[in-house]
Amino acid sequence: MKNLNQIILIGFMGSGKTTVAHALSQKLLFKYIETDFLILKKSKRKSINEIFEKDGETVFREMEMKVIKKIAGLKKTIIATGGGAIINKINIDRLKNTGYVICLKVSFVEAQKRLAKINDRPLFKNIKKAKKLYELREPLYEAYANIVIQTDGKNIEDVTHEIIERIN
Ligand code: S3P
Repeated sequence: MKNLNQIILIGFMGSGKTTVAHALSQKLLFKYIETDFLILKKSKRKSINEIFEKDGETVFREMEMKVIKKIAGLKKTIIATGGGAIINKINIDRLKNTGYVICLKVSFVEAQKRLAKINDRPLFKNIKKAKKLYELREPLYEAYANIVIQTDGKNIEDVTHEIIERIN
């Protein structure tokens, strides 16, 4: 394996960042961190929805930036970022500085299917707006990534296996 200390997963909501980060951390014996989890813990709110509703997206993004600043550079760690983390250039610069960035690609239709029964996605409630976000962000994820992995039609095992092959 390349001399990788930190692996960062980026991609749109529903691309599987959290599940893949967890599976990958078990295979590589790395720690696993999810930025949304740390933000939620810090916020003392009950859900990401509640942060967006009561504090607003700006506060969420400020917390996201602080969390990323803190964890960027941690050794032997897989980081699952939130789908919007990369819209702030400071975040991606910090992460790219010390980490290897993997983009998990998902089609909008597949993301919709995967998120159909999940309610804690404030920016996926309005499908039209979510589609616009998708179109805006998709080129950014790919541009920032060291490698891009397509996830449509693949299970967690397939995706994890492909990542390990590509980073070897
Ligand atoms: C967001 C994605 C979410 C979460 C928040 C905002 C976004 O994370 O950070 O709801 O802007 O795309 P996931 O990508 O894990 O769903």
